[in-house]
Amino acid sequence: MSKEITRRQFIIGAAAAGVVLGTGGMFVWKGHNIPAPVRRGDVTYDVLIIGSGGAGMRAALAAMAKDKNLKVGVMTKLPPTRSASTMAQGGMNGVTGVGTNVKDTPDLHAYDTIKGGAWLNDQDAVEFFAEQAGKTICEMDYMGYPYNRDKEGYFHQRKMGGSSQPRAAYYMDRAGHAMVHTLFEQCLKQNVDFISECQMLEICMGGEDKKQLNGVIALDMRTGNILGIPAKSVLIATGGYGRAYWIRTSNPYSSTGDGIVAGMNIGIPFKDPEMVQFHPTGLAVNGVLLSESSRSEGAQLKNKDGERFMEKYDPQRMELSTRDIVAQSIAKEMEEGRGVGEGISAGVYLDFTVIKPERVHAVLQQVFDLSLHFAGVDITKEPVLIAPTCHYSMGGLEMADFHTGETRVPGVYTAGECSCVSVHGANRLGANSLSEVLVFGKVAGEGAADYAKGHDYKGSQEDLKAACKKWSDTFEEVTHREHVGNRTVPEIRNDMVNTMWYKCGVFRTESQLQEAAQELAKLTEEYKHVYVGDSSHVYNTAFEQYFELGNLLQVSHAIVQGAIARKESRGGHFRRDFPKRDDQNFLKHTLIFKQPDGQYKAEYKDVVITKFPPNAPKPQAK
Ligand code: FUM
Repeated sequence: MSKEITRRQFIIGAAAAGVVLGTGGMFVWKGHNIPAPVRRGDVTYDVLIIGSGGAGMRAALAAMAKDKNLKVGVMTKLPPTRSASTMAQGGMNGVTGVGTNVKDTPDLHAYDTIKGGAWLNDQDAVEFFAEQAGKTICEMDYMGYPYNRDKEGYFHQRKMGGSSQPRAAYYMDRAGHAMVHTLFEQCLKQNVDFISECQMLEICMGGEDKKQLNGVIALDMRTGNILGIPAKSVLIATGGYGRAYWIRTSNPYSSTGDGIVAGMNIGIPFKDPEMVQFHPTGLAVNGVLLSESSRSEGAQLKNKDGERFMEKYDPQRMELSTRDIVAQSIAKEMEEGRGVGEGISAGVYLDFTVIKPERVHAVLQQVFDLSLHFAGVDITKEPVLIAPTCHYSMGGLEMADFHTGETRVPGVYTAGECSCVSVHGANRLGANSLSEVLVFGKVAGEGAADYAKGHDYKGSQEDLKAACKKWSDTFEEVTHREHVGNRTVPEIRNDMVNTMWYKCGVFRTESQLQEAAQELAKLTEEYKHVYVGDSSHVYNTAFEQYFELGNLLQVSHAIVQGAIARKESRGGHFRRDFPKRDDQNFLKHTLIFKQPDGQYKAEYKDVVITKFPPNAPKPQAK
């Protein structure tokens, strides 16, 4: 009898859960991944945002707040809550002036950011960011973000690497996950359109000089249809490109630099591409992130002899030194034979056993789970092996005006990791990224909305149709190629990532970089004939991976070009042959432009200095 009741309860419970999930699904999807007017081609967006991470969704809300009658859409190649932002763990920096953060000031936040960024930051943008970051934490509070709080009810703020004050507000070690879901709920409430599982292929420009924005060409993954979506303004918020270092990255499979390449194709420069951040603590086994908040909570780095080696490299800040310094120190320990294991999954220890297990379970739940499931280690009982992992791109599409988020192409805006506001310089501080996506996502959403309100749609449906036909033909040609001695997507990808990791990784030299450039050129030639192997139209992920590999090759090429030209060491860019920072010659940004013939050209632009000339003293805390 009790068995029968349990079974009935189970069925009733399961049915109820099914109804709830189904209703939720209908609410979001209305039965489709793409709204019907988009599929029919009879909607013109005022603001079309590409990317549904923190920057994209914050931008959508800002645009709707400007004018709720605007037609705002968010396109994503994934379901909307699966962006890379959900994987951010540690928190979001900002001066709230309450609780653990009472001594902090925006000047101190700006200073830490600039010092951490090795003075490659544009200081006017940093000052604006530091003024706004605390407000953005409060805005998220009003939206329902479930912050961890102290007994008085203030945000509890933790100290991340390179921060002189506890400044990162957070939810557990799932700060990004909570952020994305909070923003998504608000977007649903504001009737933002979600165009999901839709891969942007191109930003379509027209007119005589190709300066007129038509809209976006995209592949509906569910059907294989190519869509031309008219838009008055487009906001690129597609995240980073960590998969250029496929074997060692904390980024999801989807971080393939799509927006950066689409932007470069229409004339936006890729700024400071050589500035790649290697996070010190990825799981050695697969590069998955173990949050810096682990070290903020007291976890210690130890080499194979049990030595707490950060004493040698930064005795004051120890494990909470900046990421560039900690990652380079770990790599050095391993190179000099004080690491554990061999090859790509060698590492050093991250020791949590010095923290009370209750604390680990209270605020490092995800770190605990990831270590257990991927490395088989219970971190409350034994240290886990970690090593540097490609985590973040300080470079990105040049944001021409940080008060509007506009690029140098009229109608095209950018925000988030794919953009370069030049807030982070040569090395980003932990927890500055989530606040950056919120601050500049909002700015760019407002900027794009203003642009849409001030301009009529002048794009051409004919151009959009022609671009759809071109992509349709490409799809058929590429997916019907025969396998006749040509290499496959995984083969080329594997070679690319080995090149990037071993020749353009934590440490770099001229000869390694030159080899990397040659290898990438060869792989780019091979890519032209690559075998894809699946010509079906429904969820053709083989085509998607082909497309993403093309983007990764182009991004990698720019990273290597930038790294060859920057003959100094600064932040995440460490040249063994030029180990010193050279402010005389390199206090300037790299701008890589893609020429019509596909070749890259580099230009340089001075860094903006306001209050803090290189090596200026630290401002006082309150
Ligand atoms: O380590 C972390 O939790 C990462 C945070 C960040 O990149 O800001």
